[in-house]
Amino acid sequence: MSQREFWNNKFSRDGFLYGLKPNTFIASKIGLLAKKSQVLCIGEGEGRNAIFFAKKEFNVTAVDASDIGLLKLQERAKEENLEINTLCMDLNHWEITHKYDVIVASYLHMYKEERSALFNKIEESLNTNGYFIGEFFSTKQLKYTSGGPKDEDLLYTVDDFRKSFLLCDKEIKEQVTILDEGKGHQGEACVIRVVIQKL
Ligand SMILES: C[S@@+](CC[C@H](N)C(=O)[O-])C[C@H]1O[C@@H](n2cnc3c(N)ncnc32)[C@H](O)[C@@H]1O
Repeated sequence: MSQREFWNNKFSRDGFLYGLKPNTFIASKIGLLAKKSQVLCIGEGEGRNAIFFAKKEFNVTAVDASDIGLLKLQERAKEENLEINTLCMDLNHWEITHKYDVIVASYLHMYKEERSALFNKIEESLNTNGYFIGEFFSTKQLKYTSGGPKDEDLLYTVDDFRKSFLLCDKEIKEQVTILDEGKGHQGEACVIRVVIQKL
């Protein structure tokens, strides 16, 4: 099954699987970002981070493999009178045409073998001094029942981030936290949080 089919099936249900609020870690880093920055939200699903940034008057583009997720994002943006560009695409086929000041990702479960190409594209797509901010499930999440895939190849290690982003300043932390993100992420979890700045 493709990512599009898998996530379309999940997002076809009523409501917002990960809630309406942005990812707490990503939102907490807003103070680092210049006003009106160009923000790219990757693997953005139903759009909770994109809506948050658009409300703060950033210029937002959201990419996802799921057209149903992006449709829900656009419906919510319309209700809230916000403008967000959306692009339905498998990130394995991402071709760089634009540069961004900020790229964010929450719980983008890419396969291990897909990651270094993705990370290279993220680094290449950032303007100098731009930030990549993200939260991902650690491989240690397999012990927890708060959400995330039960396939180690879709989970991350600190090393995955350390060995990429060579021209960047990197803050990479693995930590146990409590998630409260809709029905999809509830309870104790082991996550990797990154703030990566292109030099
Ligand atoms: C766990 S959901 C997280 C959604 C959103 N970031 C959030 O936190 O609410 C994972 C998202 O990544 C997207 N995704 C997974 N693999 C992808 C790929 N190869 N290309 C584009 N999107 C992908 C899925 O469609 C889904 O929307």
